[in-house]
Amino acid sequence: MVDFSLVKEAAAILESAVNVAVLTGAGVSAESGVPTFRASEGLWEGHRVEDVATPTGFQRDPELVWRFYNERRQNLRSVVPNPGHVALAKLEEKLGDNFTLITQNIDGLHQKAGSKNVLEIHGSIRKTLCTHCGLIAHAPIEMDLGDLPRCLDCSHLLRPKIVWFHEMLPIDIWETAQFAASEATAFLVVGTSAVVFPAASLIPIAKMTRSPGARIIEINLAATEVSSMCDISILGPSGVVLPLILKELGIEV
Ligand code: OAD
Repeated sequence: MVDFSLVKEAAAILESAVNVAVLTGAGVSAESGVPTFRASEGLWEGHRVEDVATPTGFQRDPELVWRFYNERRQNLRSVVPNPGHVALAKLEEKLGDNFTLITQNIDGLHQKAGSKNVLEIHGSIRKTLCTHCGLIAHAPIEMDLGDLPRCLDCSHLLRPKIVWFHEMLPIDIWETAQFAASEATAFLVVGTSAVVFPAASLIPIAKMTRSPGARIIEINLAATEVSSMCDISILGPSGVVLPLILKELGIEV
């Protein structure tokens, strides 16, 4: 059962906020049927993280890595955004430039739901990056990329345009995210375990960069590492809680 008094409190904070920023994680897409990361003993759909989500894993066995991401691309073909994604798109519609959506998700479901300005700090499974010339290309998930896709420009091996462990976040996107967090007067943390850095550092940035700092609202099925830092923690599925908050703001999802 969602605590409705917290929903009302969250809506009141958003109503009076000057700038709103949101950090989302895998939990937002869970109700669409996309598995979260930390559910199964450190394995991602049966694979070790080091094998499928590090540059050394890719160097060692690019075919395995591509098989892994091609399967995830294939699975996404039948996936649609859920009411949580839609609620965030509608919040952007209401707040315009005073709203920033920062996501750790690579699935592109926020954009599918209608979100326009999405800072994908961990990249996108719908893009490729050439390992040689650095060309970034759109790779819609309906497209069959093949076992070891090659760059159309220089014929070298492509990789998914995803930030792997031990890699830097794209600097321009990360700086924009940090700025949005520091300017926010309300900061939503939705469906993330908040254990992966630097993404999780956006929460203390939002809280501490300026005085008095943002009011932090967390929406998650369970308490997380950052719950104690939040002003409100609403326990419940984001696909239910976010539309309830929007309803309080007079917006039907
Ligand atoms: P995690 O799998 O670590 O955490 C998912 C969070 O979502 C957990 O806290 C769950 O309790 C919560 N959750 C699950 N279902 C939910 C629902 N319906 N509504 C609300 N919350 C729900 O995923 P992330 O925090 O996104 O990085 O993981 C962060 C990063 O770790 C990922 O972006 C990925 C991974 O390594 C890279 O690939 C670089």
